[in-house]
Amino acid sequence: MDYLQRMKQKCEVLRKQKKVRILAIESSCDETSVAVVENGRKVLSNIISSQIDIHRHFGGVVPEVASRNHILNIIPLIDQALDSAKLTLSDIDAIGVTQGAGLVGALLVGLTTAKALCFACDLPLINVNHIQGHIAANYIAFPKLTPPFMCLLTSGGHTAIIHVKDYIDFHLIGTTQDDAIGEAFDKVARVLGLEYPGGAKIDKLATGVKPNIEFIQHDIMAGSFDISYSGLKTAVINYVHKLEQKGEKIDVPQICASFQAEAVDMLVSKAVRACNEVGEKKLVLAGGVAANSYLRAKLDTLSKKAGIELYYPPKEFCTDNAAMIGSIAYYQLLTKDPADLSISALANIPL
Ligand code: KG4
Ligand code: ZN
Repeated sequence: MDYLQRMKQKCEVLRKQKKVRILAIESSCDETSVAVVENGRKVLSNIISSQIDIHRHFGGVVPEVASRNHILNIIPLIDQALDSAKLTLSDIDAIGVTQGAGLVGALLVGLTTAKALCFACDLPLINVNHIQGHIAANYIAFPKLTPPFMCLLTSGGHTAIIHVKDYIDFHLIGTTQDDAIGEAFDKVARVLGLEYPGGAKIDKLATGVKPNIEFIQHDIMAGSFDISYSGLKTAVINYVHKLEQKGEKIDVPQICASFQAEAVDMLVSKAVRACNEVGEKKLVLAGGVAANSYLRAKLDTLSKKAGIELYYPPKEFCTDNAAMIGSIAYYQLLTKDPADLSISALANIPL
């Protein structure tokens, strides 16, 4: 019997097994991470090696440098994740790995390692969508949370409002037509001279500052669930450049607070409107920008008013980690066939 047939049969057995332990690998951008997750919810280990300090010198992620560092990190991290879970490879039932979206060279390191492990240990390969992983971070944080719910996904590469009908059944309600919100935060931070990745620094500098600058007059996507950040981003950049040309003082905390408020306000109102329109009473935040304090506070208020239950993961589960990949891999294993060893990495991947 060939590998794929054998793995399909193995997954049928695993679906009836009480405990399923997945070794999960994430390498889509500048974090190498390996985790062991039991039944999609219990994190036995989650080791993250961030390359932020390396890429900071360049003001952003350099894809080739990221790939090279993933190669250096990946095997030691697998050893650490197994050691920390007090397990060996023989205790692992399947390998979950991010197939996309992300930097292809970076993804290939995790994917090739996962394929090699599956081939050597005769394990099923579960090819995960990174965005679905971000959503699943909430299953780890909230053991009782189950779909359906509305999700506001706000990461460095994606911004979307998604109706999560079931663990592996997603309906896209609206998405950005240009930049992602995290990308806008990072680019604004850069023009303000803040180090990469600037999102968290904008958040910190904006604390306690009352916004008083209006960068754009209105949301060009108002009325739709889609979003645009390139206009706001360009308006902030032009504002800063004009002050620089005139030699005037740049009030960095004020610009941070005003930009953050505009970026977040247009998004949160759409997320709440989407809940109301679909009749969904649960709203779940996901992705790196879900760590933003203004976003969390604003949604706390809006959702209370609208009678919506709000969920957001702890900050360490907002940004990239392999535990979230292990969580979604489990639910994928329960409902979908495993992947063949011929699959490749995907820069973009539909929901
Ligand atoms: O989800 P993530 O780890 O990467 C992608 O999958 O794209 O998100 C990283 C993004 C970066 O743009 C970073 O600046 C942003 O999340 N971020 C924040 C905060 N913490 C991280 N943005 C705003 N406020 C924060 N506190
Ligand atoms: Zn991510």
